Amino acid sequence: MLWWHNAAVYQVYPRSFFDGNADSLGDLSGVQKKLPYLSSLGVDALWLSPFYPSPQLDSGYDVANPRDVDPMYGTLSDIRELIGQAHRQGLRIIVDIVPNHFSREHPWFQEALLSPPGSRERARFHFLDSEGDSPPNNWVSMFGGPAWTRTINPDGSPGQWYLHVFDSSQPDLNWTHPDVASDWLTTLKFWLDMGVDGFRVDVAHGLAKDMTYADLPDPVGLTEALRFDLDDGSPQAAQRRELIANSGFFDRDELQEVYASWRSVLDSYPGDRMTVAEAWVPPHRIGRYVSPSSLHQIFGFDFLVVAWNAVAMQRTITQGLDAVAHVGAPPTWALSNHDSPRVASRLGGGALGLNRARALATVAHALPGGIYIYQGEELGLSDAELPDSARQDPVFSRTKGQQKGRDGARVPLPWAGNMPPYAFTDSEKPTWLPQPIGWGTFTVEAEDADPTSTLNLYRTLVRDRKQLSGAVTFIESGDSNVMIFARDKGFHCMVNAGMHPYQLSDKFPICEVLVSSDMQLGGKNESVPPNCAVWFVT
Ligand code: GLC
Repeated sequence: MLWWHNAAVYQVYPRSFFDGNADSLGDLSGVQKKLPYLSSLGVDALWLSPFYPSPQLDSGYDVANPRDVDPMYGTLSDIRELIGQAHRQGLRIIVDIVPNHFSREHPWFQEALLSPPGSRERARFHFLDSEGDSPPNNWVSMFGGPAWTRTINPDGSPGQWYLHVFDSSQPDLNWTHPDVASDWLTTLKFWLDMGVDGFRVDVAHGLAKDMTYADLPDPVGLTEALRFDLDDGSPQAAQRRELIANSGFFDRDELQEVYASWRSVLDSYPGDRMTVAEAWVPPHRIGRYVSPSSLHQIFGFDFLVVAWNAVAMQRTITQGLDAVAHVGAPPTWALSNHDSPRVASRLGGGALGLNRARALATVAHALPGGIYIYQGEELGLSDAELPDSARQDPVFSRTKGQQKGRDGARVPLPWAGNMPPYAFTDSEKPTWLPQPIGWGTFTVEAEDADPTSTLNLYRTLVRDRKQLSGAVTFIESGDSNVMIFARDKGFHCMVNAGMHPYQLSDKFPICEVLVSSDMQLGGKNESVPPNCAVWFVT
């Protein structure tokens, strides 16, 4: 088995992880200082969200130079040191790359703006003319509003339009242009030479575009199908997902050529380097991204949206396993990331949401494959309530506040103490997003000291999942609110999503609880309360 087949990967969102140089922003030296904490969690690897030079109009996913470090995060020697130190501690490093678009501040885009229509400089992006005042077609940005912005000519007259599937500050690259493909190979080699163990490929399904730029039949439906879309197993949900398949700017067949060339570069390096695709595609299209001649792994996103319901959870697990079974790659599971509401909030908030989040984590860690943990999830954090004036996500501004955006899940982590900044920074300056009052019981310091804390639950789950083996077999529980599955050596995982306790010994007269999500149960003949999951052996 290769290291990433069953790795626990911790997502660091550097801006909000830990401030190492007292300027109130998280940075690379902050990550390095907290490596012992990550080792204590037992994870195998870190995925670093972008730390490249960027105007930060989409929190660093608007990259102005993919082969450097933004001064707000440190320097190239800081990242080199971080990689070295992580490796000495047995932690691997995965960096996030954003090949679908650059920031408008990237020199190529600046050159393009100064160059005439039809020039080589403009051809690296998607610049188009259009009749009248309307955009060249009906494509809609994933962040709301049209996917096109009009340029202004040097004489002040309206110019061509450029495509941006995300924010207008993120012009999409034209992957049919030879400069684009070759520049990205240079970027891959740059980081591989520096020693990174892999890449998280941002919007991996987005690079290729329909170069006839034909209108989409349902442009808004496509954006809605993508994120936070509950796949409730209904034909409508399946139809919505089909809107993504081979559409104008997502999931096009031409992508396979790009990833084949990347794979040969990765394979030419020693040390089992890997790639994980952020690709929101219907299950039957996954083989286009994951194969021996393409990328290695794809995020399983279904736990980000699964309902608190035993039937839905079983369906989600079955879908997740089936989706990759035919491509021969291990599945991956994620409960949250920097783009989604925190799982404790999504599942009801407060103590109820937290219990459910812990139970869902207990289920996810019992499954085969890789697991991705978003920073703060291991503390059981909820989304922070933020005043609109504090919001920074372009989703908020582009939808004119109709969608609140993703800032609630991106608030700086609480490390110690009872008041903001909870030892996140030594600076007096306010943090970039305000931390809430009341996180004193969610700090690393507080949870470290509490044997029943979410942090200590995660430590147990991350450590013990490595002992598990074998395929997943679902067992009839006799209660539609209770899901049970078994793996090898008598191991079982059970979750109670109902309103009443479930007596394990009724179904399994001889069983022993190994771990419970509330960290209260153990031993024999347990009654498992609602909103709780357990691991047991028979
Ligand atoms: C990915 C990132 C998200 C970003 C978007 C555009 O989905 O996860 O944070 O806004 O790409 O780069």
